[in-house]
Order: sequence, then C-alpha cells, then structure tokens
Amino acid sequence: MDRLKNKVAVVTGIGAGIGQGIALMFAREGAKVFGNDINGKAAEATMQQAKNEGLVMEYLQGDLTDEAQVETLMAKANETFGKIDILVNAAAFCDFKPIEELDYETSWKRSIKGELDIVFLACQKAWPYLKINGGSIINFSSANRRQVLKGSPALVHCATKGGVYSMSIQMACEGGLFQIRVNTISPGLVHTAATNHLVEDLEILPFLKEKHMLGRIGKPEDIAYAALFLASDESTWVTGADFPIDGGASKW
Ligand SMILES: NC(=O)c1ccc[n+]([C@@H]2O[C@H](COP(=O)([O-])OP(=O)(O)OC[C@H]3O[C@@H](n4cnc5c(N)ncnc54)[C@H](O)[C@@H]3O)[C@@H](O)[C@H]2O)c1
Repeated sequence: MDRLKNKVAVVTGIGAGIGQGIALMFAREGAKVFGNDINGKAAEATMQQAKNEGLVMEYLQGDLTDEAQVETLMAKANETFGKIDILVNAAAFCDFKPIEELDYETSWKRSIKGELDIVFLACQKAWPYLKINGGSIINFSSANRRQVLKGSPALVHCATKGGVYSMSIQMACEGGLFQIRVNTISPGLVHTAATNHLVEDLEILPFLKEKHMLGRIGKPEDIAYAALFLASDESTWVTGADFPIDGGASKW
C-alpha cells in the first residue's frame, strides 16, 4: 500500500478496461487521481466505485483528440491537486477492419487520431507540469506492434502502436533533461470493452488462449501492476523502455 503516496496521476480512459483498472489501483496505492473519459456515464461508474472505497479521484469528461480539451484537462488536474507527477494514456479508439474496409476518412484517419494523436496531445499538454518536478509517462503500445493475431483485423492498430512505441523512446530522450521518464507497456490480449467481441467469440477463444504461454487472456489488473511500478519511485532509473505484459504471447 501507499506506493504512490503524495503523487498526482492523470489517467485517461478511466471509464473502461485498462484505464479503469489503473485509476483504481493507483488511488488505492495513495495517489490522487485525476481521470478523463469521453464517455461520461462510464467515467461516473468508475468514480462511484472510487467513492465507495473512499479513494481520492476527480475527473473531467472530454474528447482527448481535441487539443483545447486536452489543454483544459491538464490545467484542471494541476489546479485541483497542485501538480502532475504521472500521466497514463489509456484512452483510445481504434477501428479494427481489414485493409479493403478501412475507409480513409472514417476508419483510418479516425483511428490514427484515436490511438496516436491522442497520446501525443496528452503528453505535450502535460509536459510543462511534469517538467517542474520530473515525472512518469506511461503509454500503451501493443503486442500487435510486432506480432499479428490471426482473426484480428488490426491493420491500423499495428500502425498506431508502432508509432506510440517509437514516439515514446524519442520522448524519453527529450524528457531525460527534466527527469521525465517515458515508458510503454505492450499488452497481449486483455479482456476489456475493446476486445469483448474477440474474447466472447467461442470459436476463436481457444486459439487466443493458446496464443499466450500462460494459457489465459489478460485482465486489466495484470497491466495495472506493471503501470504501478512504472509510476512509482521504484522505477526512477527506467525510461525509454517497453514492457511486454502479455502472458508470453510475443515470444510464442
Ligand atoms: N485490451 C487489449 O487487449 C489491449 C492490447 C494491447 C494494447 N491495448 C491498449 O491499451 C489501452 C487501453 O485499452 P482498453 O482495452 O482498456 O480500451 P477500452 O476501449 O476498453 O477503453 C478505452 C477508454 O477510452 C475512452 N476513449 C476513447 N476515445 C476517447 C477520447 N477521444 N477521449 C477520451 N476518452 C476516450 C473510451 O470511452 C474508453 O472508456 C489502449 O491504448 C489500447 O490500444 C489494449
């Protein structure tokens, strides 16, 4: 307990899956969490859970592909809790479609915005606050960055996650001057709202489990434990690194 005592964490995408798991775990570990989600109803459910447990969590609904709204989010987090130490970029949108069905405007560009621009904007707008005391940024790449998953039309996702991975290393280099650490987690398949359609497809579920050395699909908590280490002072000499938290999927 208290591994994040006195830390302020901005966590995006708290309404579902990995962002929700991380927001709650960070708050249980003593962080003051300032959350965000485009889906206010989903975020409210997470807020209620935090309230039931007596955790410190506030949030602002907003679309993080909109530059002005991202700027407002960071300013509001700083105004509410006095600083920002940690940024977790878990909010994301991606259209999983095979090449011929990826309409350039409504699928491709929207997904690039929803998985790549969304990370850049949050990092850029949090940067001035993180520079003050140093801090930790945690971005999400994916096992899909270097490995395809049969049955999952992840073309644009592979492109964005390669981008997040490379961008985070460059950002780590620029952040070194200010003790801003930037790392990525590359999850294997984790059961969240975004992957429900795959995990609940009983025809491909056995294959998906088999694809992971440990024989099971991940849970948001599996990812949150890695994020906790990267957010805490236990990892002050860790930057520019990628952590495959994937049940062994990427080596199998
Ligand atoms: N679940 C997996 O198997 C898996 C695997 C590899 C990588 N990842 C990555 O981990 C991260 C979290 O994934 P997840 O499965 O928890 O996703 P999810 O879809 O379950 O949750 C994402 C949340 O982000 C919010 N969101 C979407 N667009 C937004 C926007 N423009 N502004 C603000 N909020 C927005 C959604 O409302 C949702 O609550 C993503 O970057 C994802 O690509 C997930």
